[in-house]
Amino acid sequence: MNWKNITLRREGKSAIVTVNRPEKLNALDSITHKELQEACTGLDADKTVRTIIVTGSGKAFVSGADIAEMRSLSPEEARRFSRLGHQTMDMIQNTGKPVIAAVNGYALGGGAELALACDIIYACEEALFGMPETILGIIPGWAGTQRLPRLVGKAITKELIFSGAFINARRAYEIGLVNRVLPLPELMPEVMKLADSIAEKGPAAIKLAKQVINRGCETTLAEGCAMETEAFVQCCQTPDREIGMQAFLEKRKPVFEDR
Ligand code: COA
Repeated sequence: MNWKNITLRREGKSAIVTVNRPEKLNALDSITHKELQEACTGLDADKTVRTIIVTGSGKAFVSGADIAEMRSLSPEEARRFSRLGHQTMDMIQNTGKPVIAAVNGYALGGGAELALACDIIYACEEALFGMPETILGIIPGWAGTQRLPRLVGKAITKELIFSGAFINARRAYEIGLVNRVLPLPELMPEVMKLADSIAEKGPAAIKLAKQVINRGCETTLAEGCAMETEAFVQCCQTPDREIGMQAFLEKRKPVFEDR
């Protein structure tokens, strides 16, 4: 596929999606959203892909929504722009494959929102996170006001959004926004290690675990546990259970088929 603002490459069972507009610090415009959505649809359907990695080219992960595009949006266009971003983030969150954000630099506004839609965030030591929209006289429009408090709590979300301050990767780790902080040269190798480890596990189990964790966080404990039971039952009906347990009993590594 020939895209303008993203690239896609395969490494083993992982797909690496790179936002590739370095001259604009990978700011997300409508074209980039549409390309990310196309990539997401394709990768979700591709049984040979077990994990998806999202990163940015150059010194930024993503520096936010494209301010030049946002500047003159009419109210109706603003609604569409916000919905377009929600669609992208929802597609990332809802894909059946784990998505790892490899944050290689600025993750601001829409960039932080993109990382928040991913399942796991690894960041380099130089990465900077922030929600600077209020400096521009707007609020986050791609679920930053919703996903961030679910991850780090309301008070820290309000501090970040009201102040517009940038925080470094260490602070992002302290508040629970980031899973790991690594020197830049180690970022992609460590992300790949994690991706490879996930790729060795039962793909149906990974998909169902992701679904149940995500949906369970939006509901009561009792409803979440009921969902978990149903997902557990589903796992017990897949060949993966037999493959995994047989391998354990034979003291060898399981080899799961793409499904
Ligand atoms: N939207 C559109 N263009 C952006 C952008 C964004 N979110 N972020 C950076 N750019 C563009 C700049 O306008 C500049 O373009 P130009 O060379 O045509 O002038 C280019 O990317 C490089 O950015 P620059 O500001 O010169 O880099 P810097 O290293 O001095 O500063 C940042 C880096 C990230 C601190 C700064 O670009 C910035 O504050 N960006 C906006 C962040 C933001 O508010 N994001 C939330 C948007 S909702």
